Amino acid sequence: MIRKYVYGEPFETEAVVVSIPSETAKPEFGTITTEGGFCYTYHLADKDRVYGLGENVRGINKRGFEYISNCTDQSKHMEDTKSLYGAHNFLVIDGKETFGLFFDYPSKMTFDVAYRTKDHLVVTADKADLALYVITGENPLDIIKQFRKVIGRSYIPPKFAFGYGQSRWGYKTKEDFRKIVKEHRTKNVPLDMIYMDIDYMEDYKDFTLNQEEFSDFEEFVAEMKEQKIHLVPIIDAGVKIEKGYDVYEEGIEKGYFCKKEDGKEFIATVWPGETHFPDFLNPKAREWFGDKYKILLDMGIDGFWNDMNEPAIFHTPEGLERAKKVMEEFIEDPNKQMWFMTMHQLGQLSNNPQDYSNFYHEVNGKKVCHAQVHNLFGYNMTRAAGEAFERIRPEERVLMFSRSSYVGMHRYGGIWMGDNLSWWSHLLMNLKMLPSLNMVGILYTGADLGGFGADTSRDLLLRWLALGVFTPLMRNHSALGTREQEFYQFEDSKDFASVISVRYRLVPYLYSEYMKAALNDDMLFKPLAFVYPEDEIAVETEDQMMLGNEVMITPIYTQNAEGRMVYLPENMMFVKFLADGTIHQERMEKGIHYIKVALNEVPLFIRENKCIPVGEKAEYIDAVNDNNLTLIGYEGAEYLLYSDDGIHKNYDTKENYRTLK
Ligand code: NOJ
Repeated sequence: MIRKYVYGEPFETEAVVVSIPSETAKPEFGTITTEGGFCYTYHLADKDRVYGLGENVRGINKRGFEYISNCTDQSKHMEDTKSLYGAHNFLVIDGKETFGLFFDYPSKMTFDVAYRTKDHLVVTADKADLALYVITGENPLDIIKQFRKVIGRSYIPPKFAFGYGQSRWGYKTKEDFRKIVKEHRTKNVPLDMIYMDIDYMEDYKDFTLNQEEFSDFEEFVAEMKEQKIHLVPIIDAGVKIEKGYDVYEEGIEKGYFCKKEDGKEFIATVWPGETHFPDFLNPKAREWFGDKYKILLDMGIDGFWNDMNEPAIFHTPEGLERAKKVMEEFIEDPNKQMWFMTMHQLGQLSNNPQDYSNFYHEVNGKKVCHAQVHNLFGYNMTRAAGEAFERIRPEERVLMFSRSSYVGMHRYGGIWMGDNLSWWSHLLMNLKMLPSLNMVGILYTGADLGGFGADTSRDLLLRWLALGVFTPLMRNHSALGTREQEFYQFEDSKDFASVISVRYRLVPYLYSEYMKAALNDDMLFKPLAFVYPEDEIAVETEDQMMLGNEVMITPIYTQNAEGRMVYLPENMMFVKFLADGTIHQERMEKGIHYIKVALNEVPLFIRENKCIPVGEKAEYIDAVNDNNLTLIGYEGAEYLLYSDDGIHKNYDTKENYRTLK
């Protein structure tokens, strides 16, 4: 049961796509005050657990910390980072009373989950203009499924997007790309995608191509396709200010960029230098920007990633003025304020809240201050693309994922988890994010494997890839200036071939489970707590995850570890994909075990009396043969396989299912 409560005058975010009448009575759980802002308070019992909040740091049970929904470019996030790239205001409280809450509010919102006091959930916002949805159901999963139903079906990518992708900020030339293909193909490391970061463009201008390298881009895309490689270019939110650049000229002429109070276009410096932000909240501007993707689609491109769309701001002219004043005051009288305060203020040049208050959107003829709708920007940029794909290529799927997101964006694309670092702790953090992202419908997701910032190491990359084997988006990506981390930069490339090959053997299962989750508003990754709610140990286990309906994954996330402790909440089949291509299977009893897993192996567990299909090795998705599958797991078990052509959109037909036994 979903109840909707409306306070003040909410902004229509279109997160919820089903019309739900609003209630007049008070919500059943918690208390609300609306004077001087919005405040929701709920008294948590000792054992209540709190799930949700999508893309955030820390545990699956969010209790004990504070999180702030405020889409932020966070290139160095740590354990105490309160805001990441997305804003996902959905929670499930599980315990004495079990219910879900969705605060549909597009500006900054704070979630104190038993942080200031040990037994209160306190959700606050500056303005009391929002819609609150309260969801009751049998258990957390039932609540989540109801929520997912009203926010719409999750995005479904083309099947090639389940392959392995290589990326790095810094690839520039055709030779860079050719080398990657050659290394993978000659060393038998599977590959389906190579990502093009900002250097493929001319001066970082969206929808342009660096003419020195890519004047014959269409042919190059075709050359790559012949080798079964999809090039996936990046699109940034800011449009470079440059006379004669058509996207800029058109945006100005049509009035489609965000403007300041005085009616002049707002300027923000990002990669291209000074840019304007398209007003993605204006449907016409959205349509205009979305149509630009056609330029690249027409050249054979079939996937994109949308970046910098929180939107990230390096600085603004106004910010530089503020910084200048701070510096001048400091030079004039260094004792007036502490040195570190000055440094702090100077550091506020990027992503400064003052800048976000300085520009406006045009929504239904009304001016809306960006700060009031900040969290909708990336969502609507990706929506611009998704809506355009429907117009331009209605029959076929296009790969799309974004950095920033809000609830509702899951209908148009997935996300990657942003700029993580080559830290073991981030491997674990990325694992824990999976179920909370699935709760808000974001199924197509994964982290930068190996870590984006900082220097990776061979063992960290291998272990991260072994987690990536299971995440729908499996991409090795790293930052300019860091240690190169393509597999061939390390010794014994065979180990990488072993791990990445497992992905392709599991694609029939992964794709099938992904599709079932998307089509049934289900989660692909569930915490053990959702499957074994009566089992105290399972409920607390956050470094293992249920994948689909048959599998439990237990990634290794510790340096130098030769294995790990695992908890089996029921009897299970321990499965290890070995480097020689064989599969080790061993029945294990419910309880605690230590499993050994070498760097070139991938472990998983199959639930009792279940089985999963595995395919033969393949070097790209097109070569994965769903008609040549072997079942592993418990003898006599059956598996319902979903399989389609991976290109078109006829998902809801019975012909896509068949029982394997
Ligand atoms: C920031 C993105 O998060 C990262 O993935 C990308 O490589 C850089 N921008 C450069 O485009």
